[in-house]
Amino acid sequence: MTDGLKPEDLEPDAKLVEKEFFEWQKRFPAVFNPDREKLVDSLKAQWERASLLHSAEAALSDLKIEHNRLLGKKSALSGLKKKIGFVNPTYKSVVGQRVQTLERNIKAAIILAEDRLKHFIAELSTERESIDVTMPGRRPRPGHLHPITLMRERIEDIFVSLGYAVEDDREIETDFYNFDALNIPEGHPARDPQDTFYTTDGFALRSQTSTVQIHAMQRRGAPIRMIAPGRVFRRDTPDPTHNPMFFQVEGLCVDRGITMAHLKGTLAEFVHRLFGPETRTRFRPSYFPFTEPSAEVDYSCFNCGGKGCRICKGSGWIELGGSGMVHPNVLRAANVNPEEFTGFAFGLGIDRTCARIYQLDDIRLLFENDVRFLEQFR
Ligand code: FA5
Repeated sequence: MTDGLKPEDLEPDAKLVEKEFFEWQKRFPAVFNPDREKLVDSLKAQWERASLLHSAEAALSDLKIEHNRLLGKKSALSGLKKKIGFVNPTYKSVVGQRVQTLERNIKAAIILAEDRLKHFIAELSTERESIDVTMPGRRPRPGHLHPITLMRERIEDIFVSLGYAVEDDREIETDFYNFDALNIPEGHPARDPQDTFYTTDGFALRSQTSTVQIHAMQRRGAPIRMIAPGRVFRRDTPDPTHNPMFFQVEGLCVDRGITMAHLKGTLAEFVHRLFGPETRTRFRPSYFPFTEPSAEVDYSCFNCGGKGCRICKGSGWIELGGSGMVHPNVLRAANVNPEEFTGFAFGLGIDRTCARIYQLDDIRLLFENDVRFLEQFR
């Protein structure tokens, strides 16, 4: 029985498989080389990717394709294996061994290459994740306080050191707190919708922080010493440099035997601490519905000392705000007995004081949020 293929009939096919395998190995010798530098150079040369890790991953994915090409169903090796069935039985074991050895060598080489690349990728990932503590850090750009906040804090510090508590309350008020309790009767021009912002439900946006003082007196009674810094809203601003929203701080001191002298002494001390001990105060008679008597308070210009300059517009004086002795009706509205207690109150604009201190030409700079301006207060 001499039918069937002889070993030499299969040899050309076996040689072809071998040739493909050797060529593949030659194309990528560095994977089989233990020298890491050679592997790195070869990866960089063949896979010009963004990073070495990227190149190694590309090499591994190419290797999977090669695995299929050399060992898959359509490979030359697979064709060769099919022909074993037609080999003369006398030679079957010899031919079989030859093909098996070929397959084993190819598989071993591919697995070796895959292992090498996987190991290298793991190494690179670990290196990338580890932190180099000697690298200079990225410096965060911290924010900083707005000049109005800086000003408010300076004012708060002074009054807190004089024994005043700092209070705030709601910004949307009923007519009672915004007007009635402050002795502003119905029909008073301050209630006019032209001056005050109203919500569609008929609530008023507080037009001064005196509203906070009524809440505080109702809660805590008298004696009381407090300041209320916060936002207020008004529409009566024909001058374009006046804002419909601005920051105010209103102060209140109610106790037994409080007189106008205490008011003058307190505000004189305040301007000494804010602008310097040489600063003088001046009281001009005025009118507010919630105080009687009432006075506008001015302080001598911190720049020229009263001689007259650009900052005080030549007058030597700068307006601080309004003040006066709390009207008995206001004390009554807050459930404080005006027969037992008297008190003074005052209110000043934080933005305007801020603009003066920092010598800003225009108060609107404080609201434009221009970083080039704000960064100067870092
Ligand atoms: C009042 O608001 C009174 N409630 C002050 C007061 C309190 C008087 C307690 C008596 C007793 P006036 O409307 O003058 O008063 O405002 C007080 C300060 O707020 C002013 O001196 C000014 O510095 C500031 N101010 C007023 N309107 C504006 C505005 N549109 N923009 C910026 N600041 C303003």
